[in-house]
Amino acid sequence: MIRSIQAAQRLDSRGHPTVQVDLTTNRGKRAPTITKLASYTDVGTFRAIVSSGASTGANEAIELRDGDSSVYGGKGVQKAVTNIGLVIGPALVQSGLKVDTDQKMIDCLLKHLDGTENKSKLGANAVLGVSMACARAGAAHLGIPLYEFLQRESGVKKPFVMPVPFFNVINGGVHSGNKMAFQETMIAPIGASSFAEAVRMGSEVYHQLKKVIVEKFEPSAIGIGDEGGFAPPISQPHEALDLLVEAVSLAGYSGRMKFAIDAASTEFFHDGIYDIGFKDDKPSLQKTKHLTDLYRSLLQNYPVVLLEDPFAETDWASWTEFNKECPVELVGDDLLVTNTKYVQKANDTRACNSMLLNINQIGTISEAIEAANLAYSFDWGVFVSNRSGETTDDFIADLAVGLRAGHLKSGAPCRGERVAKYNRLMDIEADLLGKGEECLYAGSQFRVASKY
Ligand code: PGA
Ligand code: ZN
Repeated sequence: MIRSIQAAQRLDSRGHPTVQVDLTTNRGKRAPTITKLASYTDVGTFRAIVSSGASTGANEAIELRDGDSSVYGGKGVQKAVTNIGLVIGPALVQSGLKVDTDQKMIDCLLKHLDGTENKSKLGANAVLGVSMACARAGAAHLGIPLYEFLQRESGVKKPFVMPVPFFNVINGGVHSGNKMAFQETMIAPIGASSFAEAVRMGSEVYHQLKKVIVEKFEPSAIGIGDEGGFAPPISQPHEALDLLVEAVSLAGYSGRMKFAIDAASTEFFHDGIYDIGFKDDKPSLQKTKHLTDLYRSLLQNYPVVLLEDPFAETDWASWTEFNKECPVELVGDDLLVTNTKYVQKANDTRACNSMLLNINQIGTISEAIEAANLAYSFDWGVFVSNRSGETTDDFIADLAVGLRAGHLKSGAPCRGERVAKYNRLMDIEADLLGKGEECLYAGSQFRVASKY
């Protein structure tokens, strides 16, 4: 049973305020005080910290911000914190719902308490923090790891499958200050034989890439963006991919390392036109046809296995047209916002073949799992994701394993909030192997990991 829920305003990786939740159950002690701080799974007290996006979709659940420009530039989250203290906490304590068996009912109550379509009343940041902390508490009460708790919640069958880490090693778009319009260029070690080896490959390529950038440009070019990837002075996607080809070759992983792109194109779409020069002095206006030609040529010339948000969230017709010919995984992020309503629409219109899973786009763990299961029912992929404003909370690592999603992106193999997830996944792999549990690495099967 839940005894108390405390919330506090803390900082995310961009230095903006975010919501932290400490949930205490009857299993444990009193709620943490200044002198007794909780860790994520301190006995009886369970912590969650919420992430935040920059290139957000218009239909995402609403992150409640205070809007007082004299405090944290208007980005404070005290209202969300207060909503937990005055509304959500008392209601959950009073409900008598149990964390070990009632996650779906807890999430249903959270949804009901908010009462809006997009969680704008209490704030998706308030609701999600509580939902995550409940799941952590539920796992501890059952004496199982969080990934197993989430696997039971989702109904996905065993064995556990370790996801391919897609490392975002070149940052552009609204995540960096260079001229690159496309937001993320990723490396995916699908040729590794384990998750730990995949991390090694990613780290080695990342460091080769650093050397390549220093040689091609200058030492000051190795500055990084919001997700820990480099942000060299380039503007075109083929320039980014050429750098990756060289780094992968220097690291000795040619053929075993594939690439992926998140264009996050909603950010540069206006009045039916894409401006891939939107960070440059002069615009570079492209119609859909030109953008499609660009993707075709990138797919022909580089080992790209995944394209995310190649078209804007409102440009549904272009998605459907491109999906007819697209030979790789076509992931909807802003298009779907982890919401069953848009996942269903995208299947009806054949707009894409994969869903990005961002828990804070929808606001509760149960609804995120529901969206993933709907995507699976259409034989789609599910790509678990971090946000550009992250925290050291590693919840999504367990989620990727629990859902057998087969792949996850958590930024570069660099910066604490990014590596927290990769480190947790290495712990999970070691844990499973230590217990003698069957544990596969998704590798080239990352799109269909839930099925094999
Ligand atoms: P965001 O970026 O967290 O800034 O939205 C992540 C993504 O677009 O995949
Ligand atoms: Zn995206």
